[in-house]
Amino acid sequence: REHNLIDPFGRRIAYLRLSVTDRCDLRCDYCLPKGFKGFEVPEHWLTFDEIQRIIGAFTLMGVRHVRITGGEPLVRRHLPELAARLSALPGLDDLSISSNCTRMAELAEPLHRAGVKRLNVSLDSLRPEVFRSITGGDLAKVLAGIAAAKVVGFAPIRVNTVVMRGVNEDEIEAILAYCTEHGFTLRLIETMPMGTTGRAAQDQYVDLGQVRRRLARQVELIPDILPGGGPARYDRVAGTDTRIGFITPISQHFCETCNRVRLTVDGTLYLCLGQENSYALRPLLRDGISDADLLDHLKRAIALKPERHEFKDRPEKVIRFMSATGG
Ligand code: GTP
Ligand code: 5AD
Ligand code: SF4
Repeated sequence: REHNLIDPFGRRIAYLRLSVTDRCDLRCDYCLPKGFKGFEVPEHWLTFDEIQRIIGAFTLMGVRHVRITGGEPLVRRHLPELAARLSALPGLDDLSISSNCTRMAELAEPLHRAGVKRLNVSLDSLRPEVFRSITGGDLAKVLAGIAAAKVVGFAPIRVNTVVMRGVNEDEIEAILAYCTEHGFTLRLIETMPMGTTGRAAQDQYVDLGQVRRRLARQVELIPDILPGGGPARYDRVAGTDTRIGFITPISQHFCETCNRVRLTVDGTLYLCLGQENSYALRPLLRDGISDADLLDHLKRAIALKPERHEFKDRPEKVIRFMSATGG
C-alpha cells in the first residue's frame, strides 16, 4: 500500500483523530468543553459528506486508523450513520471511539453494528461523589454504558484515568481491580496543560513513574508491547491478563513515535496535540476543491507537523482546550 504522508521528521502519519463535536454533557475539571445543549449542527461544522470526503482522502494517502472523539462524540446526532460511512472506506482498517459513555447504553449496539470495534472510556473515579465532583455527571450511568459496550462486543475496552493528586490518586488499585474483573485495560494519564483548565490541573499533577513504582510493590509488572498501542507504555500484571498503560506526556514524552494528526469539527487539521500548528480544510472543500488538489493540501499540511510538544517547558503555549480535539 502506498504511504504518502511522511512528516519532516520521518514519521508516517497513519492515524487520525476525528472530533465530531466540541460539546460534551460532562465538564471534567481539567477540560472545558462547550456545554451540551442540543443536537443542532452549526453551519461551520463539517457535514457527514465533508467528513467522509476528508477521511476518504486521508485513507488514499495512507491513514489506516481513525479514532472518533469529541467533546463527547455520542452527542453528535446520527453518529452511527457517520461511523457506517467511515467503515465503508476501503483503506480504513480500524475505527475506534473515545467516549465518556454516559449515552453508551443506548448507542453501543448501533455503533458496534456500524463498525466501531474498540472503545476507550474516561473513568477517573469509582466513588460516585468523587466522580460527580470531577465530571459533574452520574457514575451509575457511565458504568451501565460501559457494561452495555462490553455486552455488544466492543474489544478491547480501555479505561482512561487521569491521575490527580488529592483527588483519585488513592483509587488506582480499586480501578485496576474493576478492570481486571471486567477484562479491561487500564490506562493512567498525566494531566496536560491544555487551555486554562488543563493548566490549572497541573497543581494536581502526578508523575506516573512514581505510581508505577507504587504498583510494582504490590503486583509484578511485566513490560508488554501492544500492537497499535498508541502513546501508552504497557505492562501486564503477572498472573492475570490485565494490562496497565502509562500515558506520560510530561514525565517521558513519546513524540518520536507520533503517528497521528487531529481534525476538529470545524474542519481544522491540528498537527500536534501540544502545538497550535494547523491547516484549514473546510474553506477548501466549500470552495469546491478537486480531489487531486485536496490530496496535495494534505501533504502540505503534514509538512507543518512540529517535532514535539512543549508541555513542560512552555505550558502556556497551548491555548486550545482538550475538548477541541478530544485528546
Ligand atoms: P489508542 O492508542 O488507539 O487506544 O488511543 P489513544 O490512547 O491514543 O486515545 P485516547 O483517546 O484514549 O487518549 C488517551 C489519552 O492519550 C488522552 O489523554 C489523549 O489526550 C492522550 N493522547 C493521545 N494521543 C496523544 C498524543 O499524540 N500526544 C499526547 N501528548 N497525548 C496523546
Ligand atoms: N490532561 C490529560 N488528559 C485529559 N483528558 C482531557 N483533558 C485532559 C488533560 N488536560 C483526557 C480525558 C479522556 C481523554 C480523551 O483525554 O480524561 O480520557
Ligand atoms: Fe467531556 Fe471528555 Fe472533556 Fe470530560 S474530558 S468534559 S468527558 S470532553
